[in-house]
Amino acid sequence: MGFGAWGCPIAISASSHQPHRLQLNLYPMSLPTAFRLSRSVLSTISPPISQAHKWALSYIPTEKRPLLDMSQGVPGTPPHESLQNAIQTASTTRSSFGYGPAEGEAHLRSALVEEMKEIYGVDVDLKVEDIAVTVGCNMAFVASVMSLADAGDEVILPIPWYFHHQMTLSLLGIKTVPLRTRAEDGFIPSIEACKALITPKTRAIALVSPNNPTGATYPPSLVTSFASLASSNNIALIVDETYRDFIIPKSPPQLLFSSPTWRSTFIHLYSFSKSYRIPGHRIGCIAANPSLITQIIKILDTLQICPPKTPQIALGQPGMLQGMREDIYDTAVRVAKRHQLFRETLSWRWHIASQGGYYAFVRHPFRDIGSTEVCKRLAEEMGVVVLPGAFFGHEAGVEDDRWIRFSVANVGDEDVIQVCERIRESEEAFDDWVVRDCH
Ligand SMILES: Cc1ncc(COP(=O)(O)O)c(C=O)c1O
Repeated sequence: MGFGAWGCPIAISASSHQPHRLQLNLYPMSLPTAFRLSRSVLSTISPPISQAHKWALSYIPTEKRPLLDMSQGVPGTPPHESLQNAIQTASTTRSSFGYGPAEGEAHLRSALVEEMKEIYGVDVDLKVEDIAVTVGCNMAFVASVMSLADAGDEVILPIPWYFHHQMTLSLLGIKTVPLRTRAEDGFIPSIEACKALITPKTRAIALVSPNNPTGATYPPSLVTSFASLASSNNIALIVDETYRDFIIPKSPPQLLFSSPTWRSTFIHLYSFSKSYRIPGHRIGCIAANPSLITQIIKILDTLQICPPKTPQIALGQPGMLQGMREDIYDTAVRVAKRHQLFRETLSWRWHIASQGGYYAFVRHPFRDIGSTEVCKRLAEEMGVVVLPGAFFGHEAGVEDDRWIRFSVANVGDEDVIQVCERIRESEEAFDDWVVRDCH
């Protein structure tokens, strides 16, 4: 059961409870506890990024060969100077020290509505009451699924998935139903396949576009079809649009806000971490039916009390979001060019199946070797830190364990060239492995 008799505690380790799972348990509980731990916590994987960073510890960097980290999806540069200054000023204003509304500062919520009209179309139907500001987009996802589903319910996620989405569902006791996607389709999910997965227990379909980890960007028409599917089955469609500003050429990521009925089905999530380059300030948002927002506020009030005040004050200043548009666009163009550089420079033996937003999803060429083993060696021996596809749900059905996620937004162009050189070197350096001559 996991219980030890009182005074006779037993050691519990997540891996011993989940022998079929990927061994991502970085922090095994070796110290005994007298109490039993939550089954949901024990059956949830440990934070995967730390695992990749742990491999990198064995690499000894030199001036000529520094560690090149393309693992975590983090902005490679600090925020625009005017945002930095605004954050600095806001951090000493009196109101930044206090609590604020659970749903976020009114100024920021209305600035966001204006910004979203710029992105999704001036005529879209969006109001301040539709918006809640959250402690990052991860909190937006947690609060959304908590408002929709109970333990034992089901949520459909395309696989490979963003691991925090699956971890959230696991922690809440909600069943993740994998919607398989295929490399041949550029990892674009199929409506028909999704339809077949809907059961009376399904509460939502959750998409990420542009996608993490594959970079696949779903056409707006596909997102509309998913919304129709959700609507006809009385379930919600959640779309995490964290990477929407990285779509180049610039175009609306989806057209759902133009529909007069969007509030019956659609829940939009967004992050300020990537576009505004402030992941440490933890700001995200939800746009949804105000009746749902009213329910979500119960969750936000409990989990976050309020989102961080300082970045909200800075971002909510008149003209601040508007003033950032050019910077966001320029960064997106640079990232798109880096994607192209990566595509043109990477050894032909490594196959890029999809690219977009921050990420490229690449199939390695080593015969019969899993993605985790390859990433481990790349980090330890070549000083290139990247994440194996296995971290994104391989056990649940990614078709082939040879995928690796490269985050091209983390690093500069020079680093991309160096990464590609070391990748080429690895084909010879890992001489105990056989390299395939074709994809
Ligand atoms: C799809 C997706 N959603 C959410 C997040 C996290 O966003 P935030 O920092 O706003 O919590 C990430 C970060 O990598 C992401 O890739």
